[in-house]
Amino acid sequence: MLILGIESSCDDTAAAVLENTQLRSNVLSSQDTIHNTFGGVVPELASRQHLQAICPIVQLALEKAGVTLEEIDLIAATRGPGLIGSLLVGFSYAKTLAYTLKIPLVGVDHMAGHILSIFLEKNQPEFPYIALIVSGGTTSLFLVKNHQDHKLLGRTRDDAAGEAFDKVAKLLGLPYPGGPHVSLKASEGDSKYIQFPRAWLADNSLDFSFSGLKTAVLNHCNQQKQKESMVQINNVCASFQEAVVDVLVEKTLNAASRYNIDTIVIGGGVSSNKRLRHVFEKRCTVNNLLFYAPEPVFCTDNAAMIALAGYHAFKINGASSLDIDVYSRPQYR
Ligand code: KG4
Repeated sequence: MLILGIESSCDDTAAAVLENTQLRSNVLSSQDTIHNTFGGVVPELASRQHLQAICPIVQLALEKAGVTLEEIDLIAATRGPGLIGSLLVGFSYAKTLAYTLKIPLVGVDHMAGHILSIFLEKNQPEFPYIALIVSGGTTSLFLVKNHQDHKLLGRTRDDAAGEAFDKVAKLLGLPYPGGPHVSLKASEGDSKYIQFPRAWLADNSLDFSFSGLKTAVLNHCNQQKQKESMVQINNVCASFQEAVVDVLVEKTLNAASRYNIDTIVIGGGVSSNKRLRHVFEKRCTVNNLLFYAPEPVFCTDNAAMIALAGYHAFKINGASSLDIDVYSRPQYR
């Protein structure tokens, strides 16, 4: 079965072709340079750029896979959550192809894509596992029982971890998206320079909160300015990153212990963070847990994971109706 995946939920236009679960092509058009000027994604610019990119990106994915549109057996496209204007471009395009070429369509939840992205790798986990999905739009913990059954255990109450990375980068004058830049500076800094707050929330809560941490970084920078001292960017980045990593790892391990699960999987843009992976590896070894992380190209937004999640959804539920719509808010409750 040949599956065409289409992803346009935020600021990347992506397309991929899978042959069953084997990757044939995976291409992406990034909008980073457009949004960099503004220090964050501008929704209207994002949807206009998707309009420009969608045809050539799908064409490129087909060419790289060595297939034609007529040979495609299933189209899987992101339905949500995300920016409505952006989602509409990719999803309407997918619906149009499906209708005109009489190819079945499956609407895919972006989170399900991240939860299953590890199956694009050779080294695959067994069910059940705990998935930490951590990106610019979400920080969520799931108990994953199979390809379809994903129970939400906790989520961020305010900023997502990636959003906190991006906002801290902005206030330190680093480019957008901030995560990779903060993490690069952090690799040269001292993570014990400042003990930034960790929001553990109520006892046993598996929810997250990062807005207080972001404000603590802002306050530190303002205090340094008042004292006419230099902000030590590398040390601030390292201390901030350590606070984020501490909370993400601790809560994920708590979830594994509470639900008696021995496998942890991470996904989403922030999961490409080297320090996060290193601490997870260390803590999982000590606690006899198996740890899986996709390679970075499958962590950030990509269409391969959408094609894969769509393939499994189709096998279980069949095709979606062509009158379904996109949605902006997370569906997992
Ligand atoms: O999953 P993704 O590509 O897009 C969505 O948010 O849906 O994730 C992008 C986010 C951004 O906030 C970016 O700053 C963050 O992932 N990110 C990182 C790293 N690479 C990307 N955050 C921390 N460390 C990184 N190495």
